[in-house]
Amino acid sequence: MTTLVDQYRELKKRGEKITALTAYDYPTARLLDESGIDIILVGDSLGMVVLGYEDTTQVTLEEMLHHTRAAARGVKNALVVGDMPIHTFETPNEAVATARKFVDAGAQAVKLEGGVSHVAHIEAITRAGIPYMAHIGMLPQHVREQGGYKVKGKTQLEAETLIADARAVEKAGAFSVVLEIVVPEVARQITNAISIPTIGIGSGEHCDGQILVTHDLIGFFPWFTPKFVSPEARVADEIRKATRAFIERTRAGELSNG
Ligand code: KIV
Repeated sequence: MTTLVDQYRELKKRGEKITALTAYDYPTARLLDESGIDIILVGDSLGMVVLGYEDTTQVTLEEMLHHTRAAARGVKNALVVGDMPIHTFETPNEAVATARKFVDAGAQAVKLEGGVSHVAHIEAITRAGIPYMAHIGMLPQHVREQGGYKVKGKTQLEAETLIADARAVEKAGAFSVVLEIVVPEVARQITNAISIPTIGIGSGEHCDGQILVTHDLIGFFPWFTPKFVSPEARVADEIRKATRAFIERTRAGELSNG
């Protein structure tokens, strides 16, 4: 039987680029799925772009599971990946218990942030038969210790650490690895060093696939857009336009709503 790891290695071998976007609710997940996206990540970026938190460090497991259930209901074809929030994988046993909750909520795979430091957790998850997506580079759950959303891989030591992280998560059984804000040349080296696909976010064009927060892609969180994103739409402007039109027509007595 071919596993997800085999399938993703094969995609990489064939040079097929992998597409991934985030969704946290039914309509968005369904629209992305109907548009042919490969992977839908119910990311803990939920905390910022949906729940209004300052960063992802306040996101709870209950919030993630609630939104995973909603998104999963809208998906027929894409692979749904649930993002394990901070403090829900302190030990390998807790990591497996959390991963199982995501599977029960409708995810087919899980992701957690960490490389070499989390090998035991990743091995426990994959041994339990749950497909696992790794996440290395800038780790938003550690933004406070890391002093902001800073590019990773700028020094030789950082580059070597990232390559070691990538090799470790591959060996531990990951089917793919997200590289977040990694120097593009280092992302290229990592991509060449491992046989599972790298999925970049702000890490240049040499990755085997790309992932973005959908709100950034469609201009639905206009108060902050990462430097590396070129929005394809301006949904916030459309919402403001429709809202103003509604206000004007109601105040002018043109709308009665029945
Ligand atoms: O939470 C998230 O949306 C993520 C992506 C940015 C990779 O982890």
